[in-house]
Amino acid sequence: PVIHSLSASELEIVPFALVVVDQEGKIAAFLDRTDFTQDVQETRKALNLSPEATAVHRLAPGQFLIPGFVDTHNHAPQWAQRGLGQGMHILNWLDAITFPNEARFRDTEYARRVYASCVDGFLRQGVTTASYYGSVHGEATKILAELCLSKGQRALVGKCNMTRNAPEYYRDASVEESLRVTEECIAHIRSLDHPKFKSLVQPVLTPRFAISCDAELLQGLGSIARRNPDLPIQTHFNEAEQEMHATRALFPQFGGSEADLYAHYGLLGARSILAHCCHMSEHEMERLRELECGVAHCPTSNMTVGGGFMAAPVREFLRRGIKVGLGTDSGGGFSSSMLDAMRHAMIASYAREAMSQSQSQSEEGRRDKETLSIDEVFYLATLGGAQVCGLEDKVGNFAVGKEFDALIVGTRGAEQGIITMVEEEDSLRTVFDKFVMTGDDRNIVRVYVQGRLVKGEA
Ligand code: GUN
Ligand code: FE
Repeated sequence: PVIHSLSASELEIVPFALVVVDQEGKIAAFLDRTDFTQDVQETRKALNLSPEATAVHRLAPGQFLIPGFVDTHNHAPQWAQRGLGQGMHILNWLDAITFPNEARFRDTEYARRVYASCVDGFLRQGVTTASYYGSVHGEATKILAELCLSKGQRALVGKCNMTRNAPEYYRDASVEESLRVTEECIAHIRSLDHPKFKSLVQPVLTPRFAISCDAELLQGLGSIARRNPDLPIQTHFNEAEQEMHATRALFPQFGGSEADLYAHYGLLGARSILAHCCHMSEHEMERLRELECGVAHCPTSNMTVGGGFMAAPVREFLRRGIKVGLGTDSGGGFSSSMLDAMRHAMIASYAREAMSQSQSQSEEGRRDKETLSIDEVFYLATLGGAQVCGLEDKVGNFAVGKEFDALIVGTRGAEQGIITMVEEEDSLRTVFDKFVMTGDDRNIVRVYVQGRLVKGEA
């Protein structure tokens, strides 16, 4: 059984499927029950596969296959601080909790230990692709990229740029130094090589947000972006009132529009991943659409840290054709589970629905329904995220030609600690819904990236 998204509104559920993965980890064929005989011998012959070279894995009862999760916004150095500072406003939380914590990554041994745990922890939870912010430190960021590659996690990894509004012990020494270390990290990450995995890890430009960047730094990063048109860019965008006020005070010339600000410095385009986007004017919505930017929706952190306490208008993004994915945010918030992010996206959408109902006078005056369905949040966690990260040609679903990043989900096995309660008569649709709403990492039996098993028993 295979379940994947074809689009935001189309979930494909195939009860009997055969997915053929080649030596490079690419999907060579995806057949449903009507296209192949159950006889493996005949299938091999029909597909011209040699018997010696072909291993066959059959799923056990209660199991099904889904694409790996894509976490579009994740601060790796916040792995050890998850859950701390709940309810705080963003700038206070950065000063009190985050900067002292991230400063510890100056110590490369500490970085290696925490990042190893982080990458293992996310892979264990089915995150086959993550877009990571590193700390400000070049060496620790290179270690993070190396660990992603050696452990088999597809990743975007960026050295975080900060030259101001951060304590002296935790910021780049100068704009020149910030840019120099950034270019060094980009070159290092591009040079990484692995015997099994190809092009798994790539660099991403990571200005933390405008508040922490001098104008010359944003200019310099824009220049790197111009010279590297394929390089993705990530930053925080319209997260909370406190952050938006501070941004406006530092950059009054943009009249409070972060879209105009980042676009001015050449940092907005089809490769931009904008985290949060909670408060969006009509003008900014349109700018993101025109510029083909992607949104990393982080409902868990939006509702618990940062002071937004308001989640992004995801329905409106989808309606306008703006790319959207989900992010755990890791330290912002408390959960590193994409299943939680999916469920919180649903809850946040229900809250928006309630607000929109109470604000509108009449049925006709009401905006588009805000609520997100299970199918939609699953799309955001997989194919939507792949689009946001510029990886839709590689991952996100099981289209032929993509790479096999997949999870085998088990829904039975109390002895393995699985607590989803499925019953004999449940349809695959029902089993899937129960997994999304009540499952956890114990249901994620095996994790594959580029066709290789990276977590779970062979
Ligand atoms: N804005 C700037 N830095 C951060 C961060 O680390 N987390 C969140 N949630 N917002 C930010
Ligand atoms: Fe963040």
